[in-house]
Amino acid sequence: MSSLAGKQGPRYRHTADDGAPYETIAVEKLTPIIGAEISGVDIGRLVSDDARSNQQMDEIHRALAENLVIFFRDQQITPKQHLAFGRKFGELHFHPAAPHEDEDPALMKIYADKNSPRANGEGWHSDVSCDLEPPMGSILYIKQCPPRGGDTLFANMYAAYEALSDRMKAYLDGLTALHDGEPIYRGLYANYGVADRPSYPSAEHPVVRTHPVTAKKALYVNRGFTRHINGIPRDESDAMLAYLYQHAENPLFQCRFRWTENAIAFWDNRCTQHRAMWDYWPHTRSGTRVTVKGERPV
Ligand code: SIN
Repeated sequence: MSSLAGKQGPRYRHTADDGAPYETIAVEKLTPIIGAEISGVDIGRLVSDDARSNQQMDEIHRALAENLVIFFRDQQITPKQHLAFGRKFGELHFHPAAPHEDEDPALMKIYADKNSPRANGEGWHSDVSCDLEPPMGSILYIKQCPPRGGDTLFANMYAAYEALSDRMKAYLDGLTALHDGEPIYRGLYANYGVADRPSYPSAEHPVVRTHPVTAKKALYVNRGFTRHINGIPRDESDAMLAYLYQHAENPLFQCRFRWTENAIAFWDNRCTQHRAMWDYWPHTRSGTRVTVKGERPV
């Protein structure tokens, strides 16, 4: 694990993004760097479009931009309300491989029990970054939790970028990397009876992307999908990616969410990575994810 400790205080100094106070929601930060729990919101009601909900929606947008991942507890929502909440942020994304609920192809199943060969999202990644236009955000609703464990970790990729040295930032400037779904997705969901597609998405994206809402730069390579950096020798790319992954996984940039039944996490894939813990076998963890379309990274 890399150390950011300096002799004169921390090398990475986070400047808080605390804007104006909120009027229609309460925002409790999990750490100074990433994550906040939101209260005062009933998502089932919010998706019915009255004036109050418009102001709440604006504040939820702002809370997401300021905290990168936001959490809502004790939400009783139907699949239709889950989908409607996602649509408030944009068109919905269809996963290129994962199984979905029968009601709607945009309702991705998140499920692991004692018979599962694996659980979703066990390595650090940004969702479907192999798409040409990867999803902007993901909204995960967990309905059944194990008695302990099953947390999700989230990491701030603005902070990971900012903490790089100026020389490293200059080196990465203008580089692109290949993100490929093929090695991950082929055969991955066979246990759910999902047949493989002839091919899976792959795309080249900048190693450092600029967020379309905040205009901040974020590191955009991840262990799950990134295969190599373009235009440099393969051994240099392997070494550089190994360094960047290790750097991005520093716990300083992270928060860890302990789920309770009927909680929701909404993360921005453009500036975060996440990793789910499968430490609860043989128990069951189950829910659904709605994913919102994004734009081509620049
Ligand atoms: C994922 O969407 O990557 C799964 C996250 C989780 O199950 O916590």
